[in-house]
Amino acid sequence: MAFEGRELRSLVGEDGSLSILLETVALGDPADDEVIVRVEAAPINPSDLGLLVGPADIASVETTSGGLRFTIPPARLPSVQGRLGQSMPVGNEGAGVVVAAGAGVRALQGKRVAMVGGGMYADYRKIKAREVVPLPDGVTSAEGASLFVNPLTALGFVETAKLEGHKAIIHTAAASNLGQMLQKICLADGVPLVNIVRSQAQADILRGIGATHVLNSTDGDFRGALLKAVKETGATIAFDAIGGGTLGSDIVQAMERAAVSRMTAFSRYGSEEFKQLYIYGALDLSPTVLNRLAFGFDWSVSGWLLFPFMKKAGPEISGRMRQRVLDEIKTTFVSNYTKVIGLAEALQPDVLRAYERKATGEKYLIDPSIG
Ligand SMILES: NC(=O)c1ccc[n+]([C@@H]2O[C@H](COP(=O)([O-])OP(=O)(O)OC[C@H]3O[C@@H](n4cnc5c(N)ncnc54)[C@H](OP(=O)(O)O)[C@@H]3O)[C@@H](O)[C@H]2O)c1
Repeated sequence: MAFEGRELRSLVGEDGSLSILLETVALGDPADDEVIVRVEAAPINPSDLGLLVGPADIASVETTSGGLRFTIPPARLPSVQGRLGQSMPVGNEGAGVVVAAGAGVRALQGKRVAMVGGGMYADYRKIKAREVVPLPDGVTSAEGASLFVNPLTALGFVETAKLEGHKAIIHTAAASNLGQMLQKICLADGVPLVNIVRSQAQADILRGIGATHVLNSTDGDFRGALLKAVKETGATIAFDAIGGGTLGSDIVQAMERAAVSRMTAFSRYGSEEFKQLYIYGALDLSPTVLNRLAFGFDWSVSGWLLFPFMKKAGPEISGRMRQRVLDEIKTTFVSNYTKVIGLAEALQPDVLRAYERKATGEKYLIDPSIG
């Protein structure tokens, strides 16, 4: 049986424009190891927005016959050279019902599954059966739509900290969907966590779920409070979703000052305590500014990405992480959505401006069945 449906695509043109379009595509029969899933729910996460609107100037949005068009500021064009002229499917993860299954995976026919692998903003998604996970009974597609990206990343942070010998963690943009999951995990696992947010309302959200260390980066005494929290917890690893600006630098500097305060003799090379800053997001696109002379010499700043981590961690750790997400799908790993929109609605300028803000507690979910 052939399936035809809409797919949301993002295209960067040679002229420096970015277009978002709804294309109609026909899906051939699934191969022996593939299934076709009718998508019922797919979240719009910051990483999806990175592909959907990329570096385009949101204010330049104009409606075209096929969808939306934006201009990309010339300075940002080099970052999209690799995707020029390619119509890219969007949507990292989602959930839905298997409507066709290949000969080797017939048992999945009719099952509600969660899946990861891109191209989820579509009516139908053909995908390898190994990329889907049957949802437990009683779990809806909306509840299963965000089963991979944020839950596994939050668990991955704790695993990384353990594997690399750190006893406490610092996290920025900490009231995010992911940050709230991380706080719940750290409470359950007894890992001290220092949360950094940028408003009182965000601090209240985290305290409401049991956080003890919550710092507001807009407070006048932020740096002093950060040093105090680092001393109290012994944190030597940080995960920074913001990336741009000086916050990451402030964190490593606080770690070094805490370490120096524990030294009995002065060294002009600084402390011998290793400090790790992982930048795992790009909420601020401006350059990362590092005041490295305040770090001593035992430090590292690098990127952190979920799927390479899972590969490196190996099947035992990644299997355990996946199982925990399934076990705690209705508690630790609940995602809340402000609004459920159809595929066509995702292309309305006002709606796009709202979900593109990536504001705390304002995550959108796409349900293609509603339009
Ligand atoms: N590397 C990986 O493998 C990986 C995997 C999963 C997620 N991520 C990243 O994880 C982060 C959180 O994702 P999410 O889905 O949990 O996000 P979310 O729920 O949409 O929340 C985004 C948060 O970021 C804050 N924020 C936005 N722009 C900011 C800025 N310029 N400076 C400081 N805070 C800012 C928002 O606060 P306001 O309300 O104040 O704007 C909000 O609290 C994203 O950066 C995402 O890309 C990375």
